[in-house]
Amino acid sequence: MLVHQDIERVLLDEEVIKHRVEELAAEMLAKEDGRPLVLGILMKGGLVFATDLFRCLPVRLEIECLNVSSYHGGTESSGEVRFDLEPLEGHEGKRLILVDDIFDTGLTMETLKRACLELGVGTVESCVLLKKKKEREVAVNPEYVGFTIADEFVVGYGLDYAEKYRNLPYIGVLKSEVYTCCE
Ligand code: PRP
Repeated sequence: MLVHQDIERVLLDEEVIKHRVEELAAEMLAKEDGRPLVLGILMKGGLVFATDLFRCLPVRLEIECLNVSSYHGGTESSGEVRFDLEPLEGHEGKRLILVDDIFDTGLTMETLKRACLELGVGTVESCVLLKKKKEREVAVNPEYVGFTIADEFVVGYGLDYAEKYRNLPYIGVLKSEVYTCCE
């Protein structure tokens, strides 16, 4: 069964995403200040975006994968962010950029940013491919944003529904019957 048939419409295609990822990398390079750079990938959603992004950054950066989750399989944030920052130990004083697929309520990024600073990382910036247009209670705002999108549930390019659809090479909206058949 092919995943494409579950998609109602494509929001951002491969070419559009590729071009914007290159622009984001250029924005990061423009802020290079000689300090060691670490990309912290928020798993699993940030995986696809980050692998394309870091291949556009020809500098001596390090990569760490961070286990983070807040949605626990559903379509709405549980309000509880679980994370493990052990991979960031030993990176004190460095320039850290957290990379994630989407900034929705912002709770995940706010929680992570605060925890990273408490750990002693020098500076913490954040980069998200998508930012939903909505009212938020959090104070944090990502320094790098690929696209601002409407407040609707999207999948693909790392984003999942019930752990599926991360492998789509584009960002799309699921057909409503996919939810109704699985919930
Ligand atoms: C998703 C997404 C972000 C976060 C954004 O992660 O990847 O990390 O939620 O939501 P927020 O801004 O409302 O906090 P999820 O918990 O679904 O885990 P996943 O990355 O493994 O899909």
